Amino acid sequence: MLNRTRLRPHSIRSGLRAAFLAAPSTIGGYRSNRSWPALKTAQEISDPANPLRDFFNRHRQGRGIWKWDHYFDVYHRHFSRLRGRETYVLEIGNYSGGSLEMWCDYFGSKAHIYGVDVESACKSYENSMINVFIGDQADRKFWSQFRREVPILDLVIDDGGHNRSSALRNCSPI
Ligand SMILES: C[S@@+](CC[C@H](N)C(=O)[O-])C[C@H]1O[C@@H](n2cnc3c(N)ncnc32)[C@H](O)[C@@H]1O
Repeated sequence: MLNRTRLRPHSIRSGLRAAFLAAPSTIGGYRSNRSWPALKTAQEISDPANPLRDFFNRHRQGRGIWKWDHYFDVYHRHFSRLRGRETYVLEIGNYSGGSLEMWCDYFGSKAHIYGVDVESACKSYENSMINVFIGDQADRKFWSQFRREVPILDLVIDDGGHNRSSALRNCSPI
């Protein structure tokens, strides 16, 4: 079990190196972001009543959650209409497992939460609401098998490899 931790760059040097290596995908991201609508109000930028931020801030023990604070506004803005419904949610990249618990809390008891990670230890996060599949998100054969077992998905949150080839390759099979 890990304590709650926010994701931080390790150092300016490693951050610069990562930015350099990620340059083509970063530029692609800027281009695609141009078509995203702007946030409506200042309150929406950092709403303390956001249930995801509230869960994160109250989560002081147990399985770790690795999210940047500003993710919560974007997540809530796009995901809130699925709350309380029979929703099928996949998160790629589960690390210390706390985000899977956060999705259970956020989407409610009718939701089905699926995790995918390369680390076999993540299988231990399974419970009556959470199913975890172990595999590489860049592996098409893995996704074919996954889709046979999970035919319905409403939402895919990619928090896994964070590299262009993994992200692009996993789009097609799922
Ligand atoms: C940033 S952490 C996930 C954090 C978690 N979603 C959270 O919010 O607490 C990234 C995870 O992606 C997994 N990962 C990295 N490369 C992967 C790949 N190619 N396929 C599947 N999982 C991968 C790592 O093992 C790690 O657990």
